[in-house]
Amino acid sequence: MTIQNDAQLRGLTRVCRIVASVLAAMQAHARAGMTTAELDAFGEQLLLAAGAAPAPRKVYGFPGATCISVNEEVAHGIPGERALAAGDVVNVDVSAELDGFYGDTGGSFVIPPTDALKERLLAVTRRARDDGIRAATANGLVSHVSKAIERVARRTGFRVIRNLTSHGVGEALHEEPSIYNYFDPRDTRRFHAGQVITVEPFLATKSNRVEEREDGWTLAVRRGSHAAQFEHTIMITRDTPLILTLPH
Ligand code: CO
Ligand code: CO
Repeated sequence: MTIQNDAQLRGLTRVCRIVASVLAAMQAHARAGMTTAELDAFGEQLLLAAGAAPAPRKVYGFPGATCISVNEEVAHGIPGERALAAGDVVNVDVSAELDGFYGDTGGSFVIPPTDALKERLLAVTRRARDDGIRAATANGLVSHVSKAIERVARRTGFRVIRNLTSHGVGEALHEEPSIYNYFDPRDTRRFHAGQVITVEPFLATKSNRVEEREDGWTLAVRRGSHAAQFEHTIMITRDTPLILTLPH
């Protein structure tokens, strides 16, 4: 969507702060031995208490309130009976609707103990997101975001998952434009002021594509590869974008 007035910005900011706070609370709550269904139920309660509707279920009929993806699972992992274990790389993606506005955020973390490779993957993926955000400006090329993300990955030896994208958001969970997380010189689209998008690179240690599992939802890389994602919803301005998915 494109923000046209203060009321829209207030409405969108409200739901974005809720998803950001729920993501932070879920990350703090996660521990070894807890099932992903338990972690999801915890997040769902917080979303509902804030008056927000879990977006994956509302929009796609997803069997969970949030997406929880562990290790080689990259996105759209279904909360279930899998117990989190020491050393797991966990991604939680929280999106919700409130008063017709959609906010979308996500982040990865490790159930302790962690190791150097996993910590580097997390740090680099977060930096790819933040460099991508800084490259987004009104009248600027969409591909500048893609280029900034890919540059961080290349420099550090990690791989960009090529078949998952950042995207427009706001009045729906997924809107145009789809934004590649790698540079494509044929992409001549430009951003405009007030435009709302996510920036969400997915980086992996080995694979550069995800495949859908037989459950019809989970997107995974091959075994032995680890992946991470960090996601913010932002509003494009003439200057630095406004990051909307910051916790209260
Ligand atoms: Co998301
Ligand atoms: Co998203």
